[in-house]
Amino acid sequence: MKFATASAVLLAASAVSAAATQKPLRDLAKAKDIYIGVAIGNGNLGDAKYTEIMKREFNFITPENSMKWEAIEPKPAEFHFAQGDEIVAVAKAQKAEVRGHTLTWHSQLAPWVNSATWTKENLTAAIERHIRATVGYYSDDLTHWDVVNEVHEDDGTPRQSIFYKTFGNVADYVELSFREARKHTTKAKLYINDYNLEGQNVSKSDATYQLVKKLKNKGVPIHGVGLQAHLLVGQVPTNMQATIEKFASLGVDVALTELDIRMEQPFTAEKLAQQGNDYEAVFRACLAVKRCVGITLWGITDKYSWIPGVFPTEGSALVWDENYAAKPAYDGIVRALTTKATKPKSR
Ligand code: G3I
Repeated sequence: MKFATASAVLLAASAVSAAATQKPLRDLAKAKDIYIGVAIGNGNLGDAKYTEIMKREFNFITPENSMKWEAIEPKPAEFHFAQGDEIVAVAKAQKAEVRGHTLTWHSQLAPWVNSATWTKENLTAAIERHIRATVGYYSDDLTHWDVVNEVHEDDGTPRQSIFYKTFGNVADYVELSFREARKHTTKAKLYINDYNLEGQNVSKSDATYQLVKKLKNKGVPIHGVGLQAHLLVGQVPTNMQATIEKFASLGVDVALTELDIRMEQPFTAEKLAQQGNDYEAVFRACLAVKRCVGITLWGITDKYSWIPGVFPTEGSALVWDENYAAKPAYDGIVRALTTKATKPKSR
């Protein structure tokens, strides 16, 4: 296996990929009344194979890094929109929607935010300025925003971010972020977004559920919950559909915002086949719930995935391999998107 190329293993796993014969995923997804998105890195846009797949398969784009606080406002009140503009232009050219990612987040936060000494009042002003400038700049070009990201630790307790430490609770800075965002876009659906909410981590999922319930009860303009869905091969939570239904029961949309399904390396034909079934299961869980509005893959190709940089022994998480061959994961998605059952009209 060590010397096999990715494409050779793929041939063993799936003699003829559906990729060559099927309608593009974006057409199949549209027919099922969901969008299919992808995270796009600005640095990859010069790669012709990458952009070819981006254009052909997806009708929804999330900038992987270029709308994060460190990219947009690296110094106080100094705003950089050029890379975000590039993503918006690329999306417009292929009639794709854009999800802004992300406003209030502890990671990839501009260093000046983390290093300053804040009062609640002046951090409020800084958050409001960042959101006013960013959401206001993109305004109705974007249809979705991840307004707050990853506000809880894995055990469901508040994440010890500069925001939490300054405000003394999660709800206040989250509410402030949503209310400010709403002032500057009439169109974008406003989301809270996190990982390990898909069903496998009950404490964290419950904490998010309770927070969204509280915000909804207060009339805070929150429209959706994003389940990032960074998953492991063979371990798609069996209660994923139930989890999606639970969030939807709060009267919000649900989206799977950053789907990838990683595996220990080296990959094998068996693991890739399992991964195909796993992608199929995730798509089916979303399709079964009326308010599950779409699924975004966290990248196109294993060539550029974030995973080996963070989990050095893992990888092969995406739908196209390093050489842009479609994996069994593609066929799994096609299977889910071409079954006869239609998306339920009501829950
Ligand atoms: O831009 C610099 C470049 O100048 C430098 O030469 C290079 C050297 O390491 O680093 C580049 O920055 C990297 C950046 O991605 C852009 O490629 C950072 O090191 C790297 O840490 C950063 O990783 C991103 C990660 O978020 C940071 O937390 C990943 O690309 C991105 O996929 C990942 O996405 C997150 C979501 O936003 C939130 N949910 C989890 C998800 C996975 O971690």
